[in-house]
Amino acid sequence: MDAVVMGNVDYNKNVMEHFRNPRNMGELEDADAEATVGNPSCGDVMKIMIKVKDDVIVDIKFQTMGCAAAIATSSMATELAKSKTLEEAEKISNKDVSLALGELPPIKEHCSNLAADALRKAIEVYRKKTA
Ligand code: FES
Repeated sequence: MDAVVMGNVDYNKNVMEHFRNPRNMGELEDADAEATVGNPSCGDVMKIMIKVKDDVIVDIKFQTMGCAAAIATSSMATELAKSKTLEEAEKISNKDVSLALGELPPIKEHCSNLAADALRKAIEVYRKKTA
């Protein structure tokens, strides 16, 4: 896959496309649950909001203050989680997100943790609220 060099990092075109045109970015006004996670190594932060109906994620949005990989993985994670059941969505791993983007540069693999962790945390918050 062709690469785009940004800073000193080679991103593939799929990562750059999700960075430039992120899906599901913004505020979800009527969210049923939300969670925010930070990456202690770089200080980047991601907030994820979910709307759930009959145990299915019917809407999802994110807000990420972070690097290109953090924004692209947030975009892809929300795409992967949308329309999934909570059980399916909580199984989405950082590797699933990275692979769906066509792999992140090794130095940026840790950036995919933000999205997967935030998604799992938001589901956990939802479960606690509705238990
Ligand atoms: Fe912080 Fe990518 S450098 S998440």
